[in-house]
Amino acid sequence: METAIKKPMVSFEDFYEVPDLKFDINRLRTDLENILKEKKFNSPGVTNFGAIPLNQIPNDEDSIKGNNIRGKYWTIADETGKEVSRDIDIDESKYTKLVPEFEKTYFKEVYEALSQKFKLGRVRLLLKQPRSTLSWHKDPECRLHVPIITNPGCSMVIENVAKHLPADGRVWITNNTKYHNFFNGGEQARIHLVACVLESPFKNNG
Ligand SMILES: [Fe+2]
Repeated sequence: METAIKKPMVSFEDFYEVPDLKFDINRLRTDLENILKEKKFNSPGVTNFGAIPLNQIPNDEDSIKGNNIRGKYWTIADETGKEVSRDIDIDESKYTKLVPEFEKTYFKEVYEALSQKFKLGRVRLLLKQPRSTLSWHKDPECRLHVPIITNPGCSMVIENVAKHLPADGRVWITNNTKYHNFFNGGEQARIHLVACVLESPFKNNG
């Protein structure tokens, strides 16, 4: 008698594709290239990670420096399975001003469109270097992603579910209040626009 192998169901409920919103991926890439002529990714104390802040606290240059471009998270660091908290608390709601270098770029339009639709905290361009991962961690808030440069070897992993987010102008919100990671298994850097989302579209979390 044959036994049917039951295919397990995969649920992508922690990956929310924002409906009716699509940006111009070519303009994003062109203006990213221009921005990278002026600005470099900062990597404060974390390997294979880099950030360029898009917004800041008004009149506070320190809000886009050092640990402020990383922010609080919890991680399970070793075999004990014990959760530990890392880094500093950030008052996300104070990040309301576009960093001046982005004023004349398409990013301003994107920032304004996103800010109208969602209650955002920090907005950053995040670099994930080739053949690298983040820590296994969770964040205080969800994250909005606009992938700008990616490759098929890039995936976001939330608990046990992995998903590739294509760079086609579409917008995703991921449930980063659950344990997650991002890996780039390709040989090309991955760059996403990533925003902290202060009101979660997901059920059962804050
Ligand atoms: Fe995260």
